[in-house]
Amino acid sequence: MDTSVHTKFDNSIVLPELANDTIEPHLNLRPKNFDEYPGQERVCENLKVYTQAAKLRGKMLDHCLFHGPPGLGKTTLAGIVAETMGYQIKVTSGPVIERAADLMGILASIESKTILFIDEIHRLPSNVEEILYSAMEDMRLDILIGQGPTARTVKFDLPPFCIIGATTKAGAISAPLRDRFGIQEHLDFYSPESLTKILMRSAKIMNAQLENEAAFLLSTRCRGTPRIANQLLKRILDFALVSNKISIDCDVVNLALKRLGVDSEGLCIMDRDFLKIMKDRYQGGPVGLDAIAAALNEEKSTLEDVYEPYLVYRGFVLRTARGRMLSDLGKNHLDN
Ligand SMILES: Nc1ncnc2c1ncn2[C@@H]1O[C@H](COP(=O)(O)OP(=O)(O)OP(=O)(O)O)[C@@H](O)[C@H]1O
Ligand SMILES: [Mg+2]
Repeated sequence: MDTSVHTKFDNSIVLPELANDTIEPHLNLRPKNFDEYPGQERVCENLKVYTQAAKLRGKMLDHCLFHGPPGLGKTTLAGIVAETMGYQIKVTSGPVIERAADLMGILASIESKTILFIDEIHRLPSNVEEILYSAMEDMRLDILIGQGPTARTVKFDLPPFCIIGATTKAGAISAPLRDRFGIQEHLDFYSPESLTKILMRSAKIMNAQLENEAAFLLSTRCRGTPRIANQLLKRILDFALVSNKISIDCDVVNLALKRLGVDSEGLCIMDRDFLKIMKDRYQGGPVGLDAIAAALNEEKSTLEDVYEPYLVYRGFVLRTARGRMLSDLGKNHLDN
């Protein structure tokens, strides 16, 4: 889901750079190693073992697939793995690679000990995806030259390399591609404790005085997502600056969150509209996501990827075989 800067790769294939997150134009809040990356403990502990084992064997790390909702740290984790292994990282994304030749160009120019990070890997066209099969499994590129009866396949050995794929939609990845990832990890929403650590670190980098209780309060209002936590923190710093507050306390956080439309459960205006549509127009459901998307004038995929996962995670919305339903928790929250 990153909308990264695009830059030309040496064979004129357009690659997005692993630049700072677009929400962080001035300061890089992205952690560079596991110690700077609180939360996702199980995933991190596993990755530490896999990276250490690969180093001990003197072999490339197996291909990795990171999946989970947006803003939870998949791209960040890819960078940390590269740093830990001492590999360089080339970054691209599914929608950017339109033709098979684009991917062949990227693979043909890949150097030894490189991680090819493919963001939104579920959006790779299927003819492009097929090229990855032999590249990932046999470290080989099969290039078809010519057409018709004179066509022949040239085999091209690739140097040791590792693919890290990231996706918000693991289910949209075809089984043959998914099976070629030896390491698959799911990232889940963060606990307030982990988010408090992330916020305290970000505040330090931004030279801001954030009180512990204020960080904890904010950690309960950012939809369990570090990207949102950092975004809100930046806006809170604006409010603090303008109202001449040196230290960020709970009062500033509460004031800013109110102005930003973030409620007591951390839901934003769109989240609440999602719930309201279900309650007012569909008597709590069951209702299809298409109908909710049409009523909200929003893309179905945006609701599915960005808003719904947290509402389901918190139990405000239930996914049933007949459609989405507003839970009692969701109803109560709207009534309060
Ligand atoms: N565990 C963490 N500790 C500290 N900061 C984090 C952590 N995880 C994510 N962040 C911050 O949140 C921002 C979003 O992370 P990242 O871009 O890695 O998410 P993502 O899962 O790749 O999102 P998307 O699906 O939208 O591509 C980053 O800028 C990073 O600063
Ligand atoms: Mg990303």
